[in-house]
Amino acid sequence: MNLCMIGTGYVGLVSGTCFADLGNRVFCVDKDKNKINKLNSGISTIYEPGLDELIKKNYSVGRLVFTDNLKKAIAKSELIFICVGTPNKKKSNDVDLSYVFKAAKEVAKSTKNKKILITKSTVPVGTGDTIEKLLKKLKKKNIEVISNPEFLREGEAIRDFRFPDRIVIGSNRKKYFNILKKLYQPLINKGANFFTTSRRGAELIKYASNAFLATKITFINELANLCEKANINIEDISLGMGSDSRIGSRFLRAGPAYGGSCFPKDTKGLISTGDKFKTNLSIVKSVIKSNENRKRIHTEKIKKILGSLKGKKIAFLGVTFKPNTDDMRDSVSLKMIPSLCKSGSKIYYYDPTGPKVNFKNIKNCQYKKNIKETCKDVDLIVLHTEWDEFKSLEFKKIVKKRSFSIFDLRNLYDHKQMKNKKIKYFSVGRPSSS
Ligand SMILES: NC(=O)c1ccc[n+]([C@@H]2O[C@H](COP(=O)([O-])OP(=O)(O)OC[C@H]3O[C@@H](n4cnc5c(N)ncnc54)[C@H](O)[C@@H]3O)[C@@H](O)[C@H]2O)c1
Repeated sequence: MNLCMIGTGYVGLVSGTCFADLGNRVFCVDKDKNKINKLNSGISTIYEPGLDELIKKNYSVGRLVFTDNLKKAIAKSELIFICVGTPNKKKSNDVDLSYVFKAAKEVAKSTKNKKILITKSTVPVGTGDTIEKLLKKLKKKNIEVISNPEFLREGEAIRDFRFPDRIVIGSNRKKYFNILKKLYQPLINKGANFFTTSRRGAELIKYASNAFLATKITFINELANLCEKANINIEDISLGMGSDSRIGSRFLRAGPAYGGSCFPKDTKGLISTGDKFKTNLSIVKSVIKSNENRKRIHTEKIKKILGSLKGKKIAFLGVTFKPNTDDMRDSVSLKMIPSLCKSGSKIYYYDPTGPKVNFKNIKNCQYKKNIKETCKDVDLIVLHTEWDEFKSLEFKKIVKKRSFSIFDLRNLYDHKQMKNKKIKYFSVGRPSSS
């Protein structure tokens, strides 16, 4: 099939490349000419394991095309996917749908032919209806609007595309299910669950899934606070609960507040949808509140460990919201680092994906090119992101200072091991004797 992806970001680039790898011809369109030029010169615009090779392979045989010419791409495509961003509006839970609507209008202007327009972007309930009305206004009755939310996780995106738990298609007209089924058939053959529902249903499934996962993380994080006070190991609780098949062990590991490009904005987006339909989603509201509070709790804990923050040198190992991605959107480090710098600490940070523009203008925050340079002279090491290269460090060999502490936000090491090495070690939800 010939496909067009509007928006070549984390979702558009990965799913476009993977669709091409299944034998489709895919036009990846972006309004950002810089992105398109980079991709055309063989440079990937995002860090995602395995993606560079897959882009090269499919680009070289002409199955993958990068362009800023939407009209040409649409003329050649049967299915058009909207993969643009859907951030929250400033200081509001509402979702900014301007990119989605703009993309839909551009599609309408670019074609007279029958087309299928599919929203892969995460959009609130009723967005498909609004796009349909918008197209009607522009006298484009031959463009069918379908919902196909994306569930891939950054860092595991290619695997998630190839082996999805489910493919959700939302349409109010049954005949379109078959067209999408044909596209996804290679994945269905490998066992993916092809699930069809109404367009609004598909839109809500995406928000409900993300809000539920955010709730699971927040639940175990709050229990970790209790464990710290009651001298219980949170990991035993996670194991004990998680082995119940009704609960499941995933997303049940205590750590920092959740962050990233999806959970923070989608939990807010769901509340805004609830408000629109006059439904109080009180659980999701308290999840957001608890998660915000968690960012403060961990900054305060650092203060407690160090006594005072003034003049203290702190190393951050990892700043992205999770490993195997360069995505900084809503990473907890964006709150913690500026707050610590403001209180007089000096931050050195290292991330395998390189320096971040987010910290460029923050006084007393410096990027270092490797772990050793970052940690050699510090009072505290904060293990912020769970990259593999942080999992087996010989801290005594890395840090030159005689006395230093470690705050392990990911519970990568154990207390006994650290005690034996005479390192002051703090983690999340685990008693110091465990
Ligand atoms: N990032 C994820 O892990 C993930 C996972 C599942 C779903 N989603 C959802 O997918 C959507 C996209 O997320 P993302 O992370 O890929 O965003 P992104 O910001 O990485 O990419 C969006 C891209 O769209 C481009 N764009 C915007 N308007 C355009 C237009 N009119 N024409 C052409 N290009 C245009 C931007 O230049 C940008 O490159 C969001 O709704 C998000 O919630 C994201």
